[in-house]
Amino acid sequence: MPKGRLFASVMAADYTCFAEDIRAVVEAGVDGLHFDVMDGVFVPNITFGRDLVAAIRPLTDLPFNAHLMVAKPDLIAEQVIEAGANEVAIHPEAGGDLPRSLARIRELGAQPAVALDPRVPLEMIEWVLNDVDYAVVMSVNPGFSGQRFIPAVKRKLQVIAEAVRERGRDIRLLLDGGVAADNIAELAELGATDFVAGGSIFYNRPDEDRPKAAADRVRQLREAMP
Ligand code: DX5
Ligand code: ZN
Repeated sequence: MPKGRLFASVMAADYTCFAEDIRAVVEAGVDGLHFDVMDGVFVPNITFGRDLVAAIRPLTDLPFNAHLMVAKPDLIAEQVIEAGANEVAIHPEAGGDLPRSLARIRELGAQPAVALDPRVPLEMIEWVLNDVDYAVVMSVNPGFSGQRFIPAVKRKLQVIAEAVRERGRDIRLLLDGGVAADNIAELAELGATDFVAGGSIFYNRPDEDRPKAAADRVRQLREAMP
């Protein structure tokens, strides 16, 4: 069983000092950065795209994991891979030709993945599990960082983990949304192999030294991981 990976979600960092926050979590030992690309059409929020990925790329050699919540995943996948993303997840409900989109991501040199919204049934991704390197299992409704973990996803996670085991392929399950030091061990037990953490790393009290607090929280999450 490969070691679990922890990704810091860039959308939860301080937008006035990205570099400082990113350096702090990289030094504290995250395994990669998670980029939530949102276009205001697929989800009711807008974040960033290829330019931010490209701007942060020189700061670290760690894997960049892009999560595309956009209406045109093919176009944006190409852009973020060119900007330096190594792993790219797309949502099946965005439409289009899913197997073809996943194949194209691989052709462009990145690892393809599907992302499963809590409101979307497993059947939507089950038939492409053989085409992906990992699946993002969302445990909040896509669009915002800092939301509460949706408990019903625990059961879904177990079912997906079982579907992956049946295939006998090494498909990693990246749990995304509401992950914190007090639930990460349980989620690993249920079948999650990798984790995204946004608010539980970057949101802090006004009296805290921000990058230092983020680094401390990375270490706490790591300790809580099995
Ligand atoms: C939500 C995003 C998540 C988000 C996680 O649409 O996909 O990656 O940044 O943030 P937290 O960990 O705060 O729930
Ligand atoms: Zn995400």
